[in-house]
Amino acid sequence: MNTFALKGDICFNKDPHTWETAENAYVICQDGECKGVFQELPEAYQGIPVTDYGDKLIIPGLIDLHLHAPQYAIRALGMDLELIEWLDTHAFKAESAYADLEYADKAYDMFVETMVNGATTRLCTFGTLHKEATLLLMDKLEQAGFHGFVGKVNMDRNSPEYLCEADAKASLEATEEFIIEAQKCFKHIKPVITPRFTPSCTDKLMEGLGALQAKYGIPAQSHLSENLSEIEWVKELCPGTSCYGDAYDQFGLFGSNGPSIMAHCVHSGEVEQQMMLDRGTFVAHCPQSNSDLASGIAPIRQYLNKGIKVGLGSDVAGGHSYSIFEEMKEAIQVSKLRWRLVDQSLEPLTVQEAFYLGTKGGGEFFGKVGSLEDGYRFDAVIIDDSTITYPRKLTIEERVERLIYLAQDSHVYAKYIDGVKVK
Ligand code: GUN
Ligand code: FE
Repeated sequence: MNTFALKGDICFNKDPHTWETAENAYVICQDGECKGVFQELPEAYQGIPVTDYGDKLIIPGLIDLHLHAPQYAIRALGMDLELIEWLDTHAFKAESAYADLEYADKAYDMFVETMVNGATTRLCTFGTLHKEATLLLMDKLEQAGFHGFVGKVNMDRNSPEYLCEADAKASLEATEEFIIEAQKCFKHIKPVITPRFTPSCTDKLMEGLGALQAKYGIPAQSHLSENLSEIEWVKELCPGTSCYGDAYDQFGLFGSNGPSIMAHCVHSGEVEQQMMLDRGTFVAHCPQSNSDLASGIAPIRQYLNKGIKVGLGSDVAGGHSYSIFEEMKEAIQVSKLRWRLVDQSLEPLTVQEAFYLGTKGGGEFFGKVGSLEDGYRFDAVIIDDSTITYPRKLTIEERVERLIYLAQDSHVYAKYIDGVKVK
């Protein structure tokens, strides 16, 4: 049995509203599982190895529920455009480069190296439509110690010739090969069904993807109600559906065939929200991307009030940064603007709630993940915040609040994923 403890100033959420903190305390890991936080080492754990991190902070690993690893290469470019134009001008061209495995190798090395140095421990990312390059990304993430999901993207319509699969049949065959190979080769990085979004997938493709999801018992991810022109386009493409979400739900891809993440959900109406609640769909809230591409402000308070599951996504590179701390900060900021300018019945998010969304909220997609409670997977980030200087001693709560606004990768001192030290 592999048992050890870390010692430091600990902070995590049990519920969305409050932080649990413990100063100079122990958090115990046994075979990858967290055994809880203790002020003194319990009798049963006397003598286990202890790494003393002094007055550094120990927090749960951060969860990125939605991003595009291949778009890391074009981060912070074209941010003056809206979604459809940005896809046509920047994203599709950038993704087409991954047909070349040599390029993919270089670009994905840069991406994974960056992710190791940041505070993210689990992620659910899009690849490209290229099977080989996407398997290469999975290999690199697995080697680096990450846990999570990676999808080979499906696109068989309304896409540029240089980034479009021949037809539904070819796309489905490649996807099934991808799933089989990924399940054979990787333990912690798993395949996820990934229709890019309704405009890029024919009904035949969507139907086949729903069947593959059911056959292999794996999750699905896509984009939903991100941008107003996109929503109008989907209405034209799918005249028989009750809402955009229904365009996925009719093929079982909205949660009924297995867990599903829908990114953005900026403009989801009552019918769609009810569907998300009924299906247990996870919303990946991507506030930075929603600002960068001028998509809008998602009504996250409303989703939380209704009991819809919500986590945070960087949406690299619709969002310019991979930092989930930044998403926490921006989730708070845009919720304040929405409250002030749109709907004063929906209170802004608190710092505790934003931290919850980036840890336990998104973590739920992966099982018992995102907290330092007994029984959770042991994902922990050690933060050296000594360079965020202050003239007096701050409480742990104050230090974590500042971290949400000021954190940089240089503050990430060490990182454990599923009980394994990866940084
Ligand atoms: N919708 C379809 N594809 C994309 C993408 O790559 N990024 C974002 N933000 N939205 C999308
Ligand atoms: Fe996205």
